[in-house]
Amino acid sequence: MAHVVHSFADAAGAAHACADRVAHLLKEQIALRDVAHIGLAGGNTPRAMYAVLATLPGIDWSRIHFWWGDERCVPESDKNSNERMARETLLSRLPVSTWTAHPVPTKLPPPACAAAYEAELRKHCELHPASGMPIIDVLLLGIGDDGHTLSLFPGSPTLLEKSKAVASTTAPPTSPVKDRITLTIPAARAARYRIFLAVGADKKPLVRGCLAQPAADQPSAMVGDAEWFLDSAAAP
Ligand code: 6PG
Repeated sequence: MAHVVHSFADAAGAAHACADRVAHLLKEQIALRDVAHIGLAGGNTPRAMYAVLATLPGIDWSRIHFWWGDERCVPESDKNSNERMARETLLSRLPVSTWTAHPVPTKLPPPACAAAYEAELRKHCELHPASGMPIIDVLLLGIGDDGHTLSLFPGSPTLLEKSKAVASTTAPPTSPVKDRITLTIPAARAARYRIFLAVGADKKPLVRGCLAQPAADQPSAMVGDAEWFLDSAAAP
């Protein structure tokens, strides 16, 4: 599969279309395997999409397992927590509470946290026949202003991880939270579907770089082919 790019007039259009696609894929996976594992993206862009996803009909939320593609090593009560953001904008708004969430256990020290989260993924998800990585059905991704995705940052040694599915890593000093937990490149590449949502003019050069001439070290170009939901400002 190559990259598939969908562009919309504005951010709301991109969010709605992305939510519709996510809902379709979740239903498809439930029909195939009676379960669907979704990896949630952090940051701010997904907020609008999550709010729409929570309203969409026809999803058997009791068959859904929510994971986080990456997390900041802070308590869930912290404003920088990706878990907190997803609970506020999505999980708390779902019509039922029969879904299963697997938050990153950030109370543990980062290395132990990463190991525990990987064990949980391996316990619940199918393993990829070739790579042995736990398979997340739908992995949602954002793109940072330096081309990072998940908590995989340009130049990070974590980009070279080949055997772990989850790693503890550090963000650049400009980031609000230094210590991170992230899916690795092999884990991201094992996902059945990768979906990027990016809006706003500041994302345009990064999206272009990823789609047109993926730099060898741009993490958002390393996770594999994906479906992109963009507004006109971010579209190359
Ligand atoms: C994180 C995210 C990160 C995010 C990008 C884009 O924990 O920071 O997972 O990868 O997707 O930084 O963030 P915005 O959506 O806020 O631009």
